[in-house]
Amino acid sequence: MKIAVLPGDGIGTEIVAEAIKVLKVLDLPFELEEAKVGGAAYEAYGHPLPEATLKLAQDADAVLFGAVGDWKYDKLERSLRPEQAILGLRKHLGLFANFRPAICYPELTHASSLKPELVAGLDILIIRELTGDIYFGQPRGRRVAVDGHFPGAEEAFDTMRYSRPEIERIAHVAFQAARKRSKRVTSVDKANVLETFQFWKDVVTEVHAQYPDVELDHMYVDNAAMQLVKAPKKFDVVVTGNMFGDILSDEAAMLTGSIGMLPSASLNSANKGLYEPSHGSAPDIAGKGVANPLATILSAAMMLKFSLQQADAADRIESAVSAVLAAGLRTPDIWSEGTQKVGTREMGDAVVAAIVGSTASTTTKTITKS
Ligand code: IPM
Ligand code: MG
Repeated sequence: MKIAVLPGDGIGTEIVAEAIKVLKVLDLPFELEEAKVGGAAYEAYGHPLPEATLKLAQDADAVLFGAVGDWKYDKLERSLRPEQAILGLRKHLGLFANFRPAICYPELTHASSLKPELVAGLDILIIRELTGDIYFGQPRGRRVAVDGHFPGAEEAFDTMRYSRPEIERIAHVAFQAARKRSKRVTSVDKANVLETFQFWKDVVTEVHAQYPDVELDHMYVDNAAMQLVKAPKKFDVVVTGNMFGDILSDEAAMLTGSIGMLPSASLNSANKGLYEPSHGSAPDIAGKGVANPLATILSAAMMLKFSLQQADAADRIESAVSAVLAAGLRTPDIWSEGTQKVGTREMGDAVVAAIVGSTASTTTKTITKS
Protein backbone atom coordinates (compact mmCIF):
# COMPACT_ATOMS: atom_id res chain seq x y z
CA MET A 1 0.00 0.00 0.00
CA LYS A 2 1.68 3.11 -1.20
CA ILE A 3 0.71 6.34 0.54
CA ALA A 4 1.76 9.73 -0.76
CA VAL A 5 2.35 12.04 2.19
CA LEU A 6 1.98 15.74 1.46
CA PRO A 7 2.29 17.77 4.69
CA GLY A 8 2.22 21.23 3.05
CA ASP A 9 2.41 24.45 5.03
CA GLY A 10 1.84 25.91 8.49
CA ILE A 11 0.68 23.34 11.01
CA GLY A 12 0.48 20.79 8.15
CA THR A 13 3.93 19.37 8.89
CA GLU A 14 3.29 19.05 12.63
CA ILE A 15 -0.05 17.30 12.39
CA VAL A 16 0.92 14.97 9.55
CA ALA A 17 3.96 13.86 11.57
CA GLU A 18 1.57 12.68 14.31
CA ALA A 19 -0.66 10.83 11.85
CA ILE A 20 2.40 9.05 10.48
CA LYS A 21 3.44 7.98 13.97
CA VAL A 22 -0.01 6.45 14.36
CA LEU A 23 0.11 4.70 10.96
CA LYS A 24 3.53 3.24 11.71
CA VAL A 25 2.46 1.67 15.00
CA LEU A 26 -0.28 -0.31 13.20
CA ASP A 27 2.37 -2.56 11.73
CA LEU A 28 0.82 -2.82 8.26
CA PRO A 29 2.77 -3.00 5.01
CA PHE A 30 2.72 0.70 4.14
CA GLU A 31 5.16 2.43 1.90
CA LEU A 32 5.12 6.13 2.79
CA GLU A 33 6.64 8.65 0.43
CA GLU A 34 6.70 12.34 1.21
CA ALA A 35 6.74 15.35 -1.12
CA LYS A 36 6.42 19.10 -0.83
CA VAL A 37 3.18 20.85 -1.73
CA GLY A 38 1.72 24.37 -1.45
CA GLY A 39 3.88 27.22 -0.22
CA ALA A 40 6.63 24.78 0.80
CA ALA A 41 6.83 23.51 -2.80
CA TYR A 42 6.73 27.06 -4.15
CA GLU A 43 9.72 27.97 -1.97
CA ALA A 44 11.67 24.88 -3.04
CA TYR A 45 10.70 24.54 -6.72
CA GLY A 46 8.83 27.70 -7.68
CA HIS A 47 5.44 25.94 -8.04
CA PRO A 48 2.80 24.90 -5.46
CA LEU A 49 2.12 21.59 -7.25
CA PRO A 50 5.34 20.42 -8.89
CA GLU A 51 5.17 17.64 -11.51
CA ALA A 52 6.94 15.21 -9.15
CA THR A 53 4.41 15.81 -6.36
CA LEU A 54 1.48 15.32 -8.72
CA LYS A 55 3.01 12.14 -10.11
CA LEU A 56 3.61 10.77 -6.62
CA ALA A 57 -0.04 11.44 -5.77
CA GLN A 58 -1.24 9.86 -9.02
CA ASP A 59 0.85 6.71 -8.54
CA ALA A 60 -0.04 6.20 -4.87
CA ASP A 61 -2.99 4.17 -3.56
CA ALA A 62 -3.98 7.08 -1.34
CA VAL A 63 -2.84 10.59 -0.44
CA LEU A 64 -2.49 11.91 3.09
CA PHE A 65 -2.56 15.68 2.95
CA GLY A 66 -1.87 18.27 5.67
CA ALA A 67 -2.83 21.82 4.75
CA VAL A 68 -1.64 24.59 2.45
CA GLY A 69 -1.57 28.36 2.54
CA ASP A 70 -0.04 31.34 4.27
CA TRP A 71 -0.89 35.03 4.15
CA LYS A 72 2.59 35.74 2.91
CA TYR A 73 1.66 34.26 -0.49
CA ASP A 74 -1.47 36.40 -0.93
CA LYS A 75 0.30 38.75 -3.31
CA LEU A 76 1.51 36.01 -5.66
CA GLU A 77 -0.27 35.60 -8.98
CA ARG A 78 -3.17 33.17 -8.54
CA SER A 79 -1.59 30.22 -10.39
CA LEU A 80 1.34 30.21 -7.93
CA ARG A 81 -0.63 30.46 -4.71
CA PRO A 82 -0.57 27.48 -2.32
CA GLU A 83 -4.34 26.87 -2.70
CA GLN A 84 -3.75 25.96 -6.35
CA ALA A 85 -2.02 22.80 -5.12
CA ILE A 86 -5.11 21.35 -3.50
CA LEU A 87 -7.37 22.54 -6.32
CA GLY A 88 -4.96 20.99 -8.85
CA LEU A 89 -4.86 17.68 -6.99
CA ARG A 90 -8.66 17.57 -6.85
CA LYS A 91 -8.88 18.25 -10.56
CA HIS A 92 -6.07 15.97 -11.77
CA LEU A 93 -7.10 13.05 -9.57
CA GLY A 94 -10.79 13.58 -10.35
CA LEU A 95 -11.70 13.81 -6.64
CA PHE A 96 -15.30 14.85 -7.14
CA ALA A 97 -16.83 13.48 -3.92
CA ASN A 98 -15.85 15.20 -0.71
CA PHE A 99 -17.02 13.64 2.57
CA ARG A 100 -16.99 16.00 5.54
CA PRO A 101 -18.47 14.43 8.64
CA ALA A 102 -19.38 16.75 11.50
CA ILE A 103 -19.54 14.65 14.62
CA CYS A 104 -19.82 16.03 18.13
CA TYR A 105 -17.85 13.84 20.52
CA PRO A 106 -19.70 13.48 23.84
CA GLU A 107 -16.61 14.76 25.72
CA LEU A 108 -16.58 17.95 23.64
CA THR A 109 -20.22 18.97 23.80
CA HIS A 110 -19.27 21.97 25.91
CA ALA A 111 -16.64 23.17 23.44
CA SER A 112 -19.40 24.03 20.93
CA SER A 113 -20.53 27.61 20.56
CA LEU A 114 -24.12 26.31 20.56
CA LYS A 115 -26.03 25.13 23.61
CA PRO A 116 -24.96 21.58 24.56
CA GLU A 117 -28.46 20.17 24.02
CA LEU A 118 -28.45 21.37 20.41
CA VAL A 119 -25.24 19.53 19.53
CA ALA A 120 -25.05 16.52 21.88
CA GLY A 121 -24.94 13.46 19.64
CA LEU A 122 -24.67 15.49 16.44
CA ASP A 123 -23.62 13.34 13.47
CA ILE A 124 -23.97 15.01 10.07
CA LEU A 125 -22.29 14.02 6.84
CA ILE A 126 -21.76 16.81 4.35
CA ILE A 127 -21.11 15.55 0.85
CA ARG A 128 -19.66 18.36 -1.19
CA GLU A 129 -19.19 18.16 -4.95
CA LEU A 130 -15.54 19.07 -5.38
CA THR A 131 -14.49 19.44 -9.00
CA GLY A 132 -17.20 21.59 -10.58
CA ASP A 133 -19.28 24.69 -9.94
CA ILE A 134 -17.94 28.23 -9.82
CA TYR A 135 -14.62 26.89 -8.49
CA PHE A 136 -13.64 25.43 -11.86
CA GLY A 137 -16.17 26.93 -14.31
CA GLN A 138 -14.78 28.67 -17.36
CA PRO A 139 -14.65 31.38 -18.55
CA ARG A 140 -13.41 33.51 -15.70
CA GLY A 141 -11.23 36.57 -15.51
CA ARG A 142 -11.14 40.34 -15.71
CA ARG A 143 -12.28 42.52 -18.55
CA VAL A 144 -13.97 45.79 -19.44
CA ALA A 145 -17.73 45.49 -19.10
CA VAL A 146 -19.77 45.82 -22.27
CA ASP A 147 -23.10 45.78 -20.43
CA GLY A 148 -24.43 45.57 -16.86
CA HIS A 149 -24.77 48.51 -14.48
CA PHE A 150 -21.51 50.16 -15.54
CA PRO A 151 -20.61 49.54 -19.18
CA GLY A 152 -16.98 50.47 -19.80
CA ALA A 153 -15.96 49.81 -16.22
CA GLU A 154 -13.38 47.21 -15.17
CA GLU A 155 -15.07 44.00 -13.97
CA ALA A 156 -14.28 40.46 -12.85
CA PHE A 157 -16.36 37.35 -13.50
CA ASP A 158 -16.54 33.61 -12.76
CA THR A 159 -18.82 30.97 -14.23
CA MET A 160 -21.14 28.77 -12.20
CA ARG A 161 -21.93 25.59 -14.12
CA TYR A 162 -22.84 21.95 -13.57
CA SER A 163 -23.36 19.25 -16.17
CA ARG A 164 -25.91 16.46 -15.78
CA PRO A 165 -23.30 13.68 -15.25
CA GLU A 166 -21.54 15.72 -12.57
CA ILE A 167 -24.77 16.13 -10.62
CA GLU A 168 -25.86 12.53 -11.20
CA ARG A 169 -22.66 11.01 -9.85
CA ILE A 170 -22.58 13.09 -6.67
CA ALA A 171 -26.29 12.40 -6.10
CA HIS A 172 -25.59 8.64 -6.32
CA VAL A 173 -22.76 9.03 -3.81
CA ALA A 174 -25.10 10.84 -1.41
CA PHE A 175 -27.99 8.37 -1.69
CA GLN A 176 -25.63 5.42 -1.27
CA ALA A 177 -24.02 7.01 1.78
CA ALA A 178 -27.47 7.67 3.24
CA ARG A 179 -28.37 3.99 2.86
CA LYS A 180 -25.60 3.21 5.35
CA ARG A 181 -26.94 5.82 7.78
CA SER A 182 -30.44 7.02 8.60
CA LYS A 183 -31.59 7.07 4.94
CA ARG A 184 -32.20 10.81 4.73
CA VAL A 185 -30.66 13.26 2.27
CA THR A 186 -31.03 17.03 2.18
CA SER A 187 -29.99 18.54 -1.13
CA VAL A 188 -28.97 22.16 -0.73
CA ASP A 189 -29.43 24.55 -3.66
CA LYS A 190 -30.40 28.07 -4.66
CA ALA A 191 -33.00 27.03 -7.21
CA ASN A 192 -35.09 30.12 -6.49
CA VAL A 193 -32.45 32.31 -8.10
CA LEU A 194 -29.84 30.31 -10.01
CA GLU A 195 -30.35 28.33 -13.22
CA THR A 196 -27.45 26.04 -12.28
CA PHE A 197 -29.12 25.06 -9.04
CA GLN A 198 -32.60 24.64 -10.51
CA PHE A 199 -30.93 22.08 -12.77
CA TRP A 200 -29.12 20.60 -9.74
CA LYS A 201 -32.45 20.18 -7.94
CA ASP A 202 -34.12 18.61 -11.02
CA VAL A 203 -31.32 16.10 -11.59
CA VAL A 204 -31.03 15.13 -7.89
CA THR A 205 -34.81 14.54 -7.90
CA GLU A 206 -34.51 12.31 -10.99
CA VAL A 207 -31.70 10.24 -9.48
CA HIS A 208 -33.72 9.90 -6.29
CA ALA A 209 -36.26 7.76 -8.19
CA GLN A 210 -33.66 4.96 -8.04
CA TYR A 211 -33.53 5.18 -4.23
CA PRO A 212 -37.13 4.88 -3.04
CA ASP A 213 -35.90 3.72 0.38
CA VAL A 214 -34.12 7.03 0.96
CA GLU A 215 -35.98 10.19 1.95
CA LEU A 216 -35.00 13.34 0.03
CA ASP A 217 -35.74 16.94 0.81
CA HIS A 218 -34.51 20.16 -0.75
CA MET A 219 -33.42 23.29 1.06
CA TYR A 220 -32.22 26.69 -0.13
CA VAL A 221 -28.69 27.41 0.97
CA ASP A 222 -29.55 30.48 3.06
CA ASN A 223 -32.15 28.51 4.97
CA ALA A 224 -29.70 25.59 5.36
CA ALA A 225 -27.16 27.97 6.90
CA MET A 226 -29.81 29.08 9.37
CA GLN A 227 -31.13 25.58 10.16
CA LEU A 228 -27.58 24.40 10.83
CA VAL A 229 -27.32 26.70 13.83
CA LYS A 230 -30.98 26.43 14.81
CA ALA A 231 -31.56 22.68 14.78
CA PRO A 232 -28.47 20.94 13.39
CA LYS A 233 -29.56 17.48 14.50
CA LYS A 234 -32.40 17.54 11.95
CA PHE A 235 -29.80 16.93 9.22
CA ASP A 236 -28.27 13.62 8.32
CA VAL A 237 -26.64 13.53 4.86
CA VAL A 238 -26.37 16.93 3.18
CA VAL A 239 -25.40 17.02 -0.50
CA THR A 240 -24.50 20.24 -2.22
CA GLY A 241 -22.28 21.97 -4.77
CA ASN A 242 -18.68 23.01 -4.40
CA MET A 243 -19.19 26.63 -3.29
CA PHE A 244 -22.11 26.08 -0.90
CA GLY A 245 -20.37 22.98 0.45
CA ASP A 246 -17.25 24.97 1.22
CA ILE A 247 -19.21 27.41 3.34
CA LEU A 248 -21.65 25.02 5.02
CA SER A 249 -18.94 22.50 5.92
CA ASP A 250 -17.01 25.11 7.90
CA GLU A 251 -20.22 26.10 9.65
CA ALA A 252 -21.11 22.49 10.45
CA ALA A 253 -17.57 21.77 11.62
CA MET A 254 -17.64 24.56 14.15
CA LEU A 255 -20.87 23.24 15.69
CA THR A 256 -18.91 20.26 16.95
CA GLY A 257 -16.67 22.40 19.13
CA SER A 258 -13.57 22.39 17.03
CA ILE A 259 -12.71 22.17 13.39
CA GLY A 260 -9.50 20.62 14.75
CA MET A 261 -11.36 17.33 15.25
CA LEU A 262 -12.79 16.78 11.79
CA PRO A 263 -11.33 14.61 9.07
CA SER A 264 -12.31 14.57 5.41
CA ALA A 265 -12.04 12.33 2.40
CA SER A 266 -12.10 13.30 -1.27
CA LEU A 267 -12.74 10.37 -3.56
CA ASN A 268 -12.75 9.73 -7.30
CA SER A 269 -14.80 7.17 -9.19
CA ALA A 270 -12.18 4.46 -8.55
CA ASN A 271 -12.38 5.09 -4.79
CA LYS A 272 -8.92 6.52 -4.79
CA GLY A 273 -8.79 9.28 -2.27
CA LEU A 274 -7.07 12.23 -0.75
CA TYR A 275 -7.47 12.52 3.01
CA GLU A 276 -7.02 15.76 4.86
CA PRO A 277 -8.18 17.51 8.00
CA SER A 278 -11.12 19.86 7.40
CA HIS A 279 -9.17 22.77 8.85
CA GLY A 280 -6.50 24.87 7.18
CA SER A 281 -2.81 25.59 7.71
CA ALA A 282 -3.35 27.99 10.68
CA PRO A 283 -0.14 30.00 10.15
CA ASP A 284 -0.82 31.90 13.39
CA ILE A 285 -0.07 28.83 15.51
CA ALA A 286 2.38 27.06 13.18
CA GLY A 287 5.59 25.82 14.79
CA LYS A 288 4.27 26.28 18.32
CA GLY A 289 3.42 22.63 18.89
CA VAL A 290 -0.15 23.40 19.96
CA ALA A 291 -2.17 22.33 16.88
CA ASN A 292 -4.70 19.55 17.31
CA PRO A 293 -3.50 16.51 15.32
CA LEU A 294 -6.73 14.53 15.78
CA ALA A 295 -8.40 15.64 12.53
CA THR A 296 -5.39 14.40 10.59
CA ILE A 297 -5.15 11.19 12.60
CA LEU A 298 -8.86 10.57 11.96
CA SER A 299 -8.28 11.36 8.26
CA ALA A 300 -5.68 8.59 8.23
CA ALA A 301 -8.37 6.31 9.68
CA MET A 302 -10.77 7.31 6.87
CA MET A 303 -7.98 6.53 4.39
CA LEU A 304 -7.56 3.04 5.82
CA LYS A 305 -11.29 2.42 5.57
CA PHE A 306 -12.16 3.97 2.20
CA SER A 307 -9.08 3.44 0.05
CA LEU A 308 -6.97 0.72 1.66
CA GLN A 309 -9.64 -1.78 2.83
CA GLN A 310 -8.26 -1.82 6.38
CA ALA A 311 -11.46 -1.19 8.33
CA ASP A 312 -10.12 -2.94 11.46
CA ALA A 313 -7.07 -0.72 11.61
CA ALA A 314 -9.32 2.32 11.11
CA ASP A 315 -11.48 1.20 14.04
CA ARG A 316 -8.40 0.87 16.20
CA ILE A 317 -7.44 4.47 15.48
CA GLU A 318 -10.95 5.76 16.11
CA SER A 319 -11.23 3.89 19.42
CA ALA A 320 -7.83 5.19 20.48
CA VAL A 321 -8.93 8.78 19.77
CA SER A 322 -12.09 8.27 21.84
CA ALA A 323 -10.02 6.74 24.65
CA VAL A 324 -7.63 9.67 24.70
CA LEU A 325 -10.53 12.15 24.86
CA ALA A 326 -12.21 10.12 27.58
CA ALA A 327 -8.94 10.24 29.53
CA GLY A 328 -9.25 14.03 29.51
CA LEU A 329 -6.41 14.99 27.16
CA ARG A 330 -7.06 18.19 25.20
CA THR A 331 -5.13 20.42 22.83
CA PRO A 332 -5.80 24.14 23.49
CA ASP A 333 -8.57 24.38 20.83
CA ILE A 334 -10.74 21.89 22.76
CA TRP A 335 -9.48 22.52 26.26
CA SER A 336 -11.91 23.35 29.06
CA GLU A 337 -11.67 23.65 32.84
CA GLY A 338 -10.91 20.31 34.47
CA THR A 339 -9.19 18.70 31.47
CA GLN A 340 -5.50 18.26 30.80
CA LYS A 341 -3.93 20.61 28.28
CA VAL A 342 -1.42 18.90 25.97
CA GLY A 343 0.53 19.81 22.83
CA THR A 344 0.50 18.32 19.34
CA ARG A 345 3.16 15.69 20.06
CA GLU A 346 1.77 14.60 23.40
CA MET A 347 -1.64 14.12 21.80
CA GLY A 348 -0.10 12.01 19.01
CA ASP A 349 1.89 10.00 21.55
CA ALA A 350 -1.24 9.40 23.62
CA VAL A 351 -3.10 8.01 20.58
CA VAL A 352 -0.15 5.75 19.80
CA ALA A 353 -0.06 4.57 23.43
CA ALA A 354 -3.80 3.87 23.36
CA ILE A 355 -3.39 1.75 20.21
CA VAL A 356 -0.42 -0.16 21.62
CA GLY A 357 -2.22 -0.58 24.95
CA SER A 358 -5.37 -1.97 23.34
CA THR A 359 -3.30 -4.40 21.25
CA ALA A 360 -1.52 -5.52 24.41
CA SER A 361 -4.78 -6.09 26.28
CA THR A 362 -6.32 -8.03 23.36
CA THR A 363 -3.26 -10.24 23.30
CA THR A 364 -3.50 -10.82 27.04
CA LYS A 365 -7.16 -11.76 26.74
CA THR A 366 -6.39 -14.26 23.98
CA ILE A 367 -3.64 -15.79 26.03
CA THR A 368 -5.88 -16.08 29.09
CA LYS A 369 -8.60 -17.72 27.00
CA SER A 370 -6.32 -20.32 25.47
C1 IPM B 1 -11.47 23.72 1.73
C2 IPM B 1 -10.63 24.95 1.55
C3 IPM B 1 -10.25 25.08 0.08
C4 IPM B 1 -11.55 25.23 -0.70
C5 IPM B 1 -9.25 26.17 -0.25
C6 IPM B 1 -7.98 26.02 0.56
C7 IPM B 1 -8.93 26.22 -1.72
O1 IPM B 1 -11.31 26.07 2.01
O2 IPM B 1 -10.97 22.62 1.43
O3 IPM B 1 -12.62 23.85 2.15
O4 IPM B 1 -12.05 26.35 -0.86
O5 IPM B 1 -12.07 24.23 -1.18
MG1 MG C 1 -13.18 25.63 2.96
